[in-house]
Amino acid sequence: MPSSRAIQATGLVKRYGDKTALAGIDIDVETGTVTAVLGPNGAGKTTAVRILTTLTEADEGTAIVAGFDVRRDPMEVRSRIGLAAQDATVDPLLTGRENLVMLGELHHLDRKTATRRAGELLTRFSLDDAADRVVSGYSGGMRRRLDLGATLVANPEVLFLDEPTTGLDPRARRELWETLDTLVGQGTTVLLTTQYLDEAERLADDIVVIDHGRIIARGNSASLKRQVGGEQIQVVVTDRADLAAAATALEAATGHEPTRNEGARQATASTSDGVAALSVLAATLRDAGIAVDDLGLHQPTLDEVFLTLTGAPPEHEDEEAGGMPARKREVRS
Ligand SMILES: Nc1ncnc2c1ncn2[C@@H]1O[C@H](COP(=O)(O)OP(=O)(O)O)[C@@H](O)[C@H]1O
Ligand SMILES: [Mg+2]
Repeated sequence: MPSSRAIQATGLVKRYGDKTALAGIDIDVETGTVTAVLGPNGAGKTTAVRILTTLTEADEGTAIVAGFDVRRDPMEVRSRIGLAAQDATVDPLLTGRENLVMLGELHHLDRKTATRRAGELLTRFSLDDAADRVVSGYSGGMRRRLDLGATLVANPEVLFLDEPTTGLDPRARRELWETLDTLVGQGTTVLLTTQYLDEAERLADDIVVIDHGRIIARGNSASLKRQVGGEQIQVVVTDRADLAAAATALEAATGHEPTRNEGARQATASTSDGVAALSVLAATLRDAGIAVDDLGLHQPTLDEVFLTLTGAPPEHEDEEAGGMPARKREVRS
């Protein structure tokens, strides 16, 4: 039966001993759309991807991927999907081209077709110059682009990307986002996992937020932002006596009631039109002669999203997750 759903998973549960990695999650992905599974380390992202890509079996629940049941027809599913796993799958001792040709042959392309396909993908992912160098000498960004190319060798209907940009520097991250934009523009269905709210917002039509193996929120970026209150403006006045006046100006600029912290001489309010509200506030404060130590627009970090949604910050299972970039744009006076 044809379905507009590329992925339809219901009630997925996975336990490792007495540890519950997934506590019953549903994931639906419409064909031609991008869904991000967003969560901190240990949330269960990789486990979900492994179940949907037939690498591991769920203890409970069902999943249909590209029209086939992952439990009953794993080979049918495998032939229709691509996976860029968290640990790179390419061979570091081969060149980029050799890797892609080998993968093509593994997917039953004849050598000539595999070679042509490898060449196309290397060009598409801007790896022409590096094509005949061994992968161990590639930068992180180049390697991720090769991983992406590798997932596309067999023209998959559904693409799984497990943390495609974790560990990349900001520039390589942006470049990979652009590459993913192109891919998505061509109509590939993608499920990606990420620890980064901005990445999910940037790339995904739908975002599923998971924590401790449970879905704690889902929606598009705008609806999630509404749930977590979106951006905030923070003002720190130089003289505590000005705090009340600054808070009034902040409320007028944002339309939201500020919270005040007397000790920190600080007032904070949510805003739906950050930069505009910030410039209105800056002008009001200047006209009123209120001196400020700090005035800034603050995006919710993933930690704050979790704080809002769960009442507790995510538990970071290891060091890697500590590197969450706090994003803050500031106007200093
Ligand atoms: N093979 C395994 N054996 C035991 N525990 C595992 C295994 N794989 C994952 N886990 C545990 O399941 C939970 C979810 O892990 P994972 O799906 O890798 O999370 P994420 O990808 O979101 O970081 C974690 O607590 C992890 O330690
Ligand atoms: Mg993982």
